[in-house]
Amino acid sequence: MIKHKAPFITFEGGEGSGKTTQVDILYHKLLQGGIDVVSYREPGGTRGAEEIRHLLMEGERDRWNPKSEALLMSAARADLIDRHIIPRLEADTWVLCDRFTDSTIAYQGFGHELGYEHIQELNHFTVGELEPDLTFIFQISAELGLERTALRKAGIHRFEHYDIMFHRRVAEGFEEILKKNPNRCVAINALLDIEMISEFIYNKICQRFSI
Ligand code: TMP
Repeated sequence: MIKHKAPFITFEGGEGSGKTTQVDILYHKLLQGGIDVVSYREPGGTRGAEEIRHLLMEGERDRWNPKSEALLMSAARADLIDRHIIPRLEADTWVLCDRFTDSTIAYQGFGHELGYEHIQELNHFTVGELEPDLTFIFQISAELGLERTALRKAGIHRFEHYDIMFHRRVAEGFEEILKKNPNRCVAINALLDIEMISEFIYNKICQRFSI
């Protein structure tokens, strides 16, 4: 375990699960409460990682094979950890992250069927002993999630062109992660309304980190 005092909290889930909205809400609530907090998204968060994000999210569906995709995710993550996440945690700043290693397990491990164990090894190589203190996993069916993203004004990205079977496997992957990590992971019913979810998250955080 990397020694840090401030919490490292991640948000995970399939497409259209509403987690990005919740990261923003929590970030502002914590700031208003006087907490020193930063928020990142993956892939992204540094100049290089945002360039990798562009490579991953744009262009035709099959531009990367599954292994290349997993490695690009990890390259972006290694840069974000090294430049921002670890220095911030060591400086006692709370870190929120919209997706982290669990997304690689669910998307590349299950969605692309590279396998849980292989992706765990890759994740371990990429992040070492760093592990989130708390992870919220947003549960939504693949069908409903994709329906929601189809309505998004910004349009859909490369991952949303993968077929429904891929997205069902991703959802199964997140369920497996929940089962395997009951202390770290908390399930969120993504069908509840925004305020109910944000209150639930804030209460969990108050309990867990005594604020
Ligand atoms: P988002 O920012 O809208 O969540 O989009 C990020 C996309 O990247 C989403 O489709 C999930 C995908 N992704 C992976 O496939 N593996 C990963 O490790 C990460 C971080 C994201």
